[in-house]
Amino acid sequence: MHIPSIIEKKRDGGALSDEEIEFLVSGYTNDEMPAYQMSAFAMAVYFQGMSSAETAALTDVMLKSGEVMVYPDHAPRIVDKHSTGGVGDKVSLVLAPLLACDGVWVPMISGRGLGITGGTLDKLESIPGFSINVSQEKALAQLEAIGVVMMGQTASICPADKKLYALRDVTATVPSRPLIVASIMSKKLAESLDALVLDVKYGSGAFMKTWDEANELGEAMREVGNRMGVDTRILYNPMEEPIGQAVGNSLEVIESIETLKGGGPADLRKLVLDLGGEVSTVERSVLEAWLDDGTALKKFHEMVEAQGGRPEDLEQLNSIHRAPVMREIRSQSSGSTLRVDADTVGRASLALGAGRGNADDIIDPAVGFDQIVKCGTKVAEGDVIARVHAKSEAQATGAERHFLKGIKIQ
Ligand code: URA
Repeated sequence: MHIPSIIEKKRDGGALSDEEIEFLVSGYTNDEMPAYQMSAFAMAVYFQGMSSAETAALTDVMLKSGEVMVYPDHAPRIVDKHSTGGVGDKVSLVLAPLLACDGVWVPMISGRGLGITGGTLDKLESIPGFSINVSQEKALAQLEAIGVVMMGQTASICPADKKLYALRDVTATVPSRPLIVASIMSKKLAESLDALVLDVKYGSGAFMKTWDEANELGEAMREVGNRMGVDTRILYNPMEEPIGQAVGNSLEVIESIETLKGGGPADLRKLVLDLGGEVSTVERSVLEAWLDDGTALKKFHEMVEAQGGRPEDLEQLNSIHRAPVMREIRSQSSGSTLRVDADTVGRASLALGAGRGNADDIIDPAVGFDQIVKCGTKVAEGDVIARVHAKSEAQATGAERHFLKGIKIQ
């Protein structure tokens, strides 16, 4: 098969055969096809889309690029959650340990930051020593011991997604329905789940800007999941303002820990409980009690310890990752916050170094924003509406200016 001809076919709106999709994806995964050709293909898919048959073939070949999880006969119900990506979206950090308190197994395979949206793996790596590279053998042992593991795609699980995900991040090819469906569902199907809840975002800080687009994405994922025997639930959630009040890797872990202690921002806690309710076998009130009485926090500590971190460090993250400059951003007028734009905050955070511009960029775990005001809050001129954590005074000034463009107070 001739790679440029397959790219050309997709560029011109043709439908690819299963064999052509397999040829491209396995060629790229096995380093037999260069990144520039895969980039061109991803851009062709971005513009031309894919039929359901092509999307299913792409998901299947990505799933089969590696191993799938195989559980022992005595394994309990296996559940997971995935989000299509949001700004300040740290839900997984709270929800994975919370679900595991139920006695189910949660083998969560997550991604890195993508575009303006943060990645669970980058957040977890701000915990010193925490390893997201977990073999299937270790994942199974950890599930047996504590019921939860949070890890990345590896050379053995979904290697095709690992490579393609990083390439899409830096080639402006993230917001493509078939590419998102295949990326998310290949990872989730590799987990051999019984039930999955998908948090499909729409709005300024999401890849899908409208509910209609999100709905098409959600339905495509539901179809793939259910066809593969996974009870796939979908919740559609707006992504107009950041989730919670922190955006940036270690800052989001700190906020997640507050939520695991029964506190944290109300919107974050509600989202965790709404999503948890879709796949948990216990009542919402039980999930709430596990957040409030320290059960979920204990589970998180056990996971951190099992994956190489130290629970004591979780209380010190703000000094372990202290950015050289921390500045308060103050309101320039009085009134009610009508808009705290997720896209603007996400871009400002990316520019600070919390995300990547190039595939091999190293992210800075310390930078970002916290104490971000929520929409609908009454503020007076001079009130603190966020704090920026930056590498330098110049970066803090740029980030403050950028941030204020996303705020509307009236
Ligand atoms: N999350 C993923 O895992 N993949 C995407 O493509 C988007 C969000």
